[in-house]
Amino acid sequence: MRRNLPINKIISSMPVSATLGINERSNAMIKAGKKVYKFGLGQSPFPVPEHVVEALKANSYQKDYLPVRGLKELRDTVAVYYEKTQGLSFTGDDIIIGPGSKELMFILQTVYEADLLLPTPSWVSYAPQAVITGRKVIWLNTERDNKWLLTPDTLEAECSKDPDRARVLLLNYPNNPTGYSYSACELKALAETARKYGVLILSDEIYGEVHHDGDHVSIAKFYPEGTIVSGGLSKWCGAGGWRLGTFAVPSNLRRIVDAMAVVASETFTSVSAPVQYAAVTAFRENKEIDTYLLHSRKVLKTLGTYCADTLVGAGAKLERPDGGFYLFPDFSPMADKLHKKGITTSTEMCEKLLEETGVATLAGSCFGRPADEFTLRLSYVDFDGGLAITESAKLGVDAELGIDFLKKTCSASVEAINLMGAWFQK
Ligand SMILES: Cc1ncc(COP(=O)(O)O)c(C=O)c1O
Repeated sequence: MRRNLPINKIISSMPVSATLGINERSNAMIKAGKKVYKFGLGQSPFPVPEHVVEALKANSYQKDYLPVRGLKELRDTVAVYYEKTQGLSFTGDDIIIGPGSKELMFILQTVYEADLLLPTPSWVSYAPQAVITGRKVIWLNTERDNKWLLTPDTLEAECSKDPDRARVLLLNYPNNPTGYSYSACELKALAETARKYGVLILSDEIYGEVHHDGDHVSIAKFYPEGTIVSGGLSKWCGAGGWRLGTFAVPSNLRRIVDAMAVVASETFTSVSAPVQYAAVTAFRENKEIDTYLLHSRKVLKTLGTYCADTLVGAGAKLERPDGGFYLFPDFSPMADKLHKKGITTSTEMCEKLLEETGVATLAGSCFGRPADEFTLRLSYVDFDGGLAITESAKLGVDAELGIDFLKKTCSASVEAINLMGAWFQK
C-alpha cells in the first residue's frame, strides 16, 4: 500500500466537527472518573414523543427503498405542517427529505454555485461545508449589543459591492450559538434587501418549534420566492439520531431540488424507510405533540433564563434567550482577570473552565468569532428531558416553573451554571 495516502489536502487539514470533538473529549473524561457537565454538544434533552416511537416500531417492517426526494405521504404532511404553523404555501412537490438537514445543506452548497454569506457567530458546520464544496465564505459582522443579529445595512453593504453576484445567505433563528431570534419586522427588512439583490436565503429554522414563547416566524413569509426553509426532527422532536431533515423549496426554484435529487440519488439514495413513516406521525397535527412542545418550551425558557441571569450576575454580557437551548455569553468585561490567569483566547478559556470545573463548553472562535474575544457557547441541556416534561405536566399548563422545579429536574445544569458563574467571579 502507498505510504502517502492521496487524501484530499483541504479535507485532511480540517479537524472533525468541533461539537462532536467536545463530546468525545467529555466522554473520555467521564470514563477516566471525572465529573463532567455536558454543555458542549447541542443535543435535545427530550425523549422522542411516545406515539412517534410507537409509529417507528409499527413501521420497522418497512424495508423498501423509498423515493429519492422522500416518501410522498411525508412530503405532503410537511407541506401541510408549514401551512398550519407558518401560513406558508408549499406542496409536497416542494419538499425534499434528507438524512438530517445538515446533509441537505451540504448538497445545496454542492449544487448551487454561490458565495455563502454567514453572519458571525454561526453554527459550526456551515463554513466547513463551504470549504469542502469549494464555496467562498463571506462573514458578515454582527454586534453583541444587537443580540448578534444581522442587520439589513450590513447585508446591503456586502451585496452592493457586486450587485449581480450569486449569493446564499444563511440565516438561522432561533440561533445556534446565541439563542436569539428575529422579530417579524427584522425579518421583513432583511427580506427586502435580499430580494433587491436576488440573494437566496437558506433559512435554518431547525429550532423554530422550540422558540420559547412559541412565536417563531419564518422569513419565507416575506420572501417566499427566494427562501428555502430548512427543518427536521432533530431539535424539537428529540430525534437527532434518527437523521431526518427537510427542505421546503418554493416551486420557482424547482431546478435546485432537481439538482439536489441527482446528488441524493448518487449518494444516500433515500432516508431510512421506517424513520420516514414515523416522521409522518411527528409532523401531523396532534395534541400529543402540542403538549410535548408546550412543556419543552416552558422548561427551556425557565432554565435558559436562570442560566443567563446567573452569568449576567457573574459579569458576563448577554441577554435572556428567545429559543433553542444555547447561550453565547461574552466574558470580555473580565478580560483583565482572565489575562491574569494566563488566558488569552476563548479556546484557552474553555479548556481551563473544563479542567477546573468540569463544565464542557465550546469556544466562540469555533463559531467564527475572533480567537481573542472571550465568548463561548454553552448548551444548557445536561438534564433528563423526560423527567422535566413529566414534572412540568404534573404542575399544569399555567404553572410558573421556578428554581425549585429546576433543582428537582435539571440539577446538573443548575450546578454547572453555578460553578461557571463562581469560576468567572473568582
Ligand atoms: C443550527 C443548526 N442547523 C442544523 C443542524 C443540523 O441538524 P440535523 O442535521 O440533525 O437536521 C444543527 C445541529 O446541531 C444546528 O444546530
